[in-house]
Amino acid sequence: MNNAGSESQSEKDRSRPIGIFDSGVGGLTVYRALHDRLPNERFIYLGDTARVPYGTKSLATVERYALENSAFLASLGIKMLVVACNTASALALPSIREKIGLDVVGVIGPGGRRAVEVTTDEPAPRIGVIATEATVSSNAYKEAIRRASERAAILQSGCPLFVPLAEEGWTHEPETYSIARRYLADMKEFAPHALVLGCTHYPILRDVIAETLGESVKLIDSGIATADEVADLLREKGMANPNTIAGERRLCDDLDNFYVTDAAERFARVAERFLGVQPSKLEAIEVYGADEVKSENVEG
Ligand code: DGL
Repeated sequence: MNNAGSESQSEKDRSRPIGIFDSGVGGLTVYRALHDRLPNERFIYLGDTARVPYGTKSLATVERYALENSAFLASLGIKMLVVACNTASALALPSIREKIGLDVVGVIGPGGRRAVEVTTDEPAPRIGVIATEATVSSNAYKEAIRRASERAAILQSGCPLFVPLAEEGWTHEPETYSIARRYLADMKEFAPHALVLGCTHYPILRDVIAETLGESVKLIDSGIATADEVADLLREKGMANPNTIAGERRLCDDLDNFYVTDAAERFARVAERFLGVQPSKLEAIEVYGADEVKSENVEG
């Protein structure tokens, strides 16, 4: 995390929303974790549905998209940025931090650290990571785990078809189990103590993954680990919203804003599948060239 936020934030700064971006709809699992953990915060979510998937694209392309998304959110006056997309976190976090004058939290570090935490009692911990092809090739999770533990054995595996299966809502179909058995055959042999669900969509397929690998494997939801670290950061930096939000918060209520770069109707449909509810405030926008107007409204 960078230290861009000042120690004594003004009330106006602290009451700003938190920005979240993903390549599309999958980041809603991270939004849900943040919303559950931080009911007194407001969120602005951007899904880059025009350019999804990121998981099969090159570093240069993902970096460019990530910078445009970040600049768009910064121009809306957010107080902190959460990069919900594992692929963008793996490939573009340093560039985003360099360009955006805000605290930026990705999902890789928190997910990797959580996997190490839950396996510390094992004499020879084994940690598995499943993710998109781009995240696996970047070795970002491997490095994050290695930074937290020198002794963990690590196995990574790409599971690209899990993304469309989750979006289709095929969470318990025989085809999904069969694909999971094929993708996770080496992982099953490796017998990890913990498995990082290193892609936004994989928590949706939690049951299939748990049944395929055996219920004793601890499944790490990077979104939940990230929400905990965001809560700590807000507290440490005195950046939590000072104004109590009255009444019960609901996912996707009208205090949170959702933007997509294409196909808003499909996003709303899949959002309902993932969260049980459609966003109250959803708008289609363009982010191309947004890095030209970056940070206009952001003072902190
Ligand atoms: N959001 C992406 C991730 O977490 C998965 C979908 C994609 O490939 O863009 O890596």
